[in-house]
Formats: sequence, C-alpha cells, structure tokens
Amino acid sequence: MKQRKKAPEGRSQADRACTEGARVAEQANGSGQTLEARQVSVSFEGLTAVNSVDETLHQGEILGLIGPNGAGKTTLVNAMTGFQLPAAGEVLLCGKVISSLSPHWIRRHGVARTFQAGRLFRDMPVSENVEVAAVSMGLSRKKAHAHAMELLEWLGLADRAEMPAGILPYTDERRVGIARALALSPQFVLLDEPAAGMSDLECDDIMQVVREIPERFGCGVLLIEHNMRVIMGVCARIHVLDSGKTIARGTPAEVQKNPVVINAYLGHS
Ligand SMILES: Nc1ncnc2c1ncn2[C@@H]1O[C@H](COP(=O)(O)OP(=O)(O)OP(=O)(O)O)[C@@H](O)[C@H]1O
Ligand SMILES: [Mg+2]
Repeated sequence: MKQRKKAPEGRSQADRACTEGARVAEQANGSGQTLEARQVSVSFEGLTAVNSVDETLHQGEILGLIGPNGAGKTTLVNAMTGFQLPAAGEVLLCGKVISSLSPHWIRRHGVARTFQAGRLFRDMPVSENVEVAAVSMGLSRKKAHAHAMELLEWLGLADRAEMPAGILPYTDERRVGIARALALSPQFVLLDEPAAGMSDLECDDIMQVVREIPERFGCGVLLIEHNMRVIMGVCARIHVLDSGKTIARGTPAEVQKNPVVINAYLGHS
C-alpha cells in the first residue's frame, strides 16, 4: 500500500473535495449504494435526542455531521449502526430496512464506525486489535495480519504495531479505531470525532486520512467533528443538528454563512 501523500493546503483542496464529493454523490444516487436515515427519532425517558431526521449517505462521498454538544450526532450514528433502536423512522442499507438488526449484522454487511471513546482491547497489541476486525470478516490470521499492517502503515502507526493498545496516547487510539473500522472492508464508515484532542498538525494528517478513504476503500464517510477546519476542509456537504433536529444542510460555504447555524453553533465555537 502506498505511503500517504503529504497533507495538501488551503481551500482549493477543500473546494476540489466539494466538487468531487458532489459528483460522486450524484453518480451514486442511481446506484442504490446508500445508508439512509428516514424520519429517525430516538428518545430517552422523555428527551427526544434525535427528532425526525432524514439523511442519505452515498458511497464515495464525505458527509459532515455537526452541531453543539448534545445535539444528537452520536445518537443518530448509534441508530444508523444498530446500537440504538429508533423510536420512530427507519434506517435502510442499500434499500433494505436494518433499523432493528444487531450492530454485529450491520457491521458484517458493510457499515463500520468508530467511537468517541477508544473501545480498544487495551491488553492486546495494536496490530491484533485491527486483525480481530479483519478475521471477523472471514480473513485468515495471516491475511488479516498483513491487512492490519497495511492499514497501520498507511496511518503512520506501523512502529507501534506490537505495543499494547492501552499504552497508546489518545490521539493514536483514535487512529487505531479508524484502522479497525476500515479492516471490516465497509461500504460506509461513520467516524465519531476522529480529530478530538489533536494538534493542528495531527488534524492535517487526519484530514488527509479522511480525504483518502473514499477513493482508497470505496466507502462513503460520515464525519462527526467539532473542529470546523477539519469539517470544512474535507466534507462535500454538511448536515447540522441542534437539539435533535436538522437545522441546516448544504455545502461548507452555505452552512458557514447560514445565520441559523451561526446562532446555534458556529458563533459559539
Ligand atoms: N443512553 C442515553 N441515555 C439517556 N440520555 C442520553 C443517552 N445517550 C445520549 N443521551 C442524551 O441525548 C442527547 C444527545 O446526545 P448525543 O451524545 O447524541 O449528542 P452529541 O451531539 O453526540 O454530543 P457531543 O458533541 O457532546 O458528542 C443528550 O442530551 C444526551 O445527554
Ligand atoms: Mg457525540
């Protein structure tokens, strides 16, 4: 597997990503390769954490999901990956209703995710954390190891492959989480704050990782992030939640100047 290219700079890359993402989404529109939330609602003891949300993620695109703390971003991802049964609405994978299927089934059928908090096997070496995911998809131990090492190399973690995952710094844990999700060879990958706690330089690196996912792995990416430089730099389009409801959607340029979004979120971040 090739080494990752150096992180490119500036808006022109973001603009290219937008155009490319929009083109890919348009092409994918007719292909049926979609992960769809249809009028999804999730409630916790009287609190409506997600309120009638619609979204369709297409293979090959990068979609940003943003909003203030508690807006319902993780809960929506939980519903789209089988970790949370919606109170109403449906989740569809390539047209098939999957809302009530298990996280295991959904993972095996092409929808991978990362978690806000690590969830690594802390006593296991980093490489085995990734291998386990590849083995779960039917690869032999040998092939799974080779695949895991390719992914770790790509993510700049090859020299940490034999370390117990529990001693990794937090930012490396986030990268191992991405490797684990991609080891499942998904059609869709949902990343919950992969750049949390990262320095500007580390953010540049994670932006480049996310940008490369659609082409390298053929996936659609849903990216939750509070770091607006990351979101605006890699996403073709953005969905904004506040108090569980969709308050805006559009290109980075449209969302950035939307007064409702500025008032609810961007003005405070
Ligand atoms: N298991 C749960 N039980 C009860 N309430 C929950 C549960 N999970 C989430 N919530 C509540 O649902 C709302 C949405 O939470 P969620 O974690 O989805 O927000 P978020 O947009 O991901 O926020 P953040 O940016 O802080 O990660 C919050 O009010 C949260 O307290
Ligand atoms: Mg969250």
